[in-house]
Amino acid sequence: MDYNQIQNAASFINDKLKQQPKIGLILGSGLGVLAEDIENPVKIPYNEIPGFPVSTVEGHAGQLVCGQLSGEEVIVMQGRFHYYEGYSMDKVTFPVRVMKELGIEKLIVTNAAGGVNENFEPGDLMIITDHINNMGTNPLIGPNDSRFGVRFPDMSEAYSKNLRAVAKEVADKNNLQLKEGVYFGNPGPVYETPAEVRMIRTLGGDAVGMSTVPEVIVARHSGLEVLGISCISNMAAGILDQPLSHDEVIETTENVKSSFLLLVNEIVKTLGNN
Ligand code: HPA
Repeated sequence: MDYNQIQNAASFINDKLKQQPKIGLILGSGLGVLAEDIENPVKIPYNEIPGFPVSTVEGHAGQLVCGQLSGEEVIVMQGRFHYYEGYSMDKVTFPVRVMKELGIEKLIVTNAAGGVNENFEPGDLMIITDHINNMGTNPLIGPNDSRFGVRFPDMSEAYSKNLRAVAKEVADKNNLQLKEGVYFGNPGPVYETPAEVRMIRTLGGDAVGMSTVPEVIVARHSGLEVLGISCISNMAAGILDQPLSHDEVIETTENVKSSFLLLVNEIVKTLGNN
């Protein structure tokens, strides 16, 4: 990862901002609607930012939106980069480095994921307690630039206990039901086979998806505190007697929109008051 490239992108963005963002958010498939809640938005399409890749998948707008969410200065990625699109791990995680350079301290990562835990149902929101990296690679492979972080980062609390507690408290106060569990990160782009889903369950995965893991590894490397939220958009393959489709994923995330928006808005507000 090239330090100068990150600084270039960050200073390009910084020139357009009035305030320094404190919290970064990455919005997953079908969850980009949160960006519409941002006040005084400054929108920067990815293709205008030097060094940024351009997103291709449906359901992803591909822009940064900066402004206030529940009164807090945030920077939101409306659309993310996936490894399966063919981007290198460096590209997938580039925006996290840039957000860190812009001064964020906390990162809220969201995604749509398949439910592996049979106690889950489509439409559930799951706080990520931990992850399993099954992507077959790691964004930190290569020489370590110590300006970013240490060679061997600790991952014993990849998803902040503190932020998880805030999420639970907010959910309780607002009568929102929250699930909790381990996110299993696959490279994609195929959905899993039923046998793979059984394997994932045996290995301790509660939800499965094709994102998040690389960004969280880089966020931890750079010392950011992370909160992860999965929207269970479908039951993983083989659990129900029906095929999976991206349309179903988008449709379910559409249906949980209101509780997702409430949860994230209230979490951001609470973090601002702390
Ligand atoms: N598997 C992998 N990724 C996903 C799924 C799934 O079932 N649903 C949404 N993203």
